[in-house]
Amino acid sequence: MKRYLITGASRGIGRAIAEKLSAPDVVLLLHGRDTVALAEVCKFAKTQCAQVVPLIHDLALPSGVSKLIAEVGSGSIDLLVNNAGVAVVKPFAEITQIELEQTIGVNIVAPFLLTQHFAPKMRPGSSIVNILSIAAKTAFPNWSVYCMSKFALEGFSQAVREELREHKIRVINIYPAATDTEIWNNIAGEWPRTKMMSPQEVAEAVAYALSRPADVAVENISLSSSVGNL
Ligand SMILES: NC(=O)c1ccc[n+]([C@@H]2O[C@H](COP(=O)([O-])OP(=O)(O)OC[C@H]3O[C@@H](n4cnc5c(N)ncnc54)[C@H](OP(=O)(O)O)[C@@H]3O)[C@@H](O)[C@H]2O)c1
Repeated sequence: MKRYLITGASRGIGRAIAEKLSAPDVVLLLHGRDTVALAEVCKFAKTQCAQVVPLIHDLALPSGVSKLIAEVGSGSIDLLVNNAGVAVVKPFAEITQIELEQTIGVNIVAPFLLTQHFAPKMRPGSSIVNILSIAAKTAFPNWSVYCMSKFALEGFSQAVREELREHKIRVINIYPAATDTEIWNNIAGEWPRTKMMSPQEVAEAVAYALSRPADVAVENISLSSSVGNL
């Protein structure tokens, strides 16, 4: 039986990944904060998987990460998907201390701590998937704190990839452009949803990378709509 841990699986890209990776030989450890939304995802996954475990924790603080780790327990996992993320988009002078700390907590510190905890317990052939963004490579006005967090995660994941090579653990970085999820609901401005990719397309890319033989690493996948990045 394989054990997969996916953060931010209650909606959007994380939910699509959870649904795509659901299979009879898989135990899904699905994290989110919204109990109702996560229960909905678990309900579907339970019809497809050997077991589904909901994990409700706020990852903005290291204490929330510690509680998640404690609930997962001491067994090894075969896949960690660092997906949970927040996007605060506004002129950098207007970003509050709380918005800064939450972005750093969820987008940088949580993936760091989860990777640090789980990677040493992973068997050869296991994988870590990081959901980054085109904003991990390209900066946009008003996206300063988001870009900062994704650039940081990019540096971390590239370095960790090199450290984990000798253990035969694959680090797969995914760089989606605009994807039609609820993350856009609180972002001011006109963002044409019809020009965005679906979260299912991102999940397809993740599943493809994971489906390669264990000694083949599809290390970086950039995805955008054919009409551009918005
Ligand atoms: N959508 C895009 O255009 C796009 C493009 C590139 C990269 N990404 C990245 O893809 C990832 C998923 O984003 P999405 O578009 O699917 O967004 P989404 O629909 O808003 O989902 C975000 C997920 O992260 C979780 N999350 C947010 N804050 C959290 C916190 N403090 N503690 C624990 N969990 C928290 C949410 O949990 P609850 O809802 O249960 O609170 C939810 O499951 C993010 O890392 C994002 O940066 C998105």
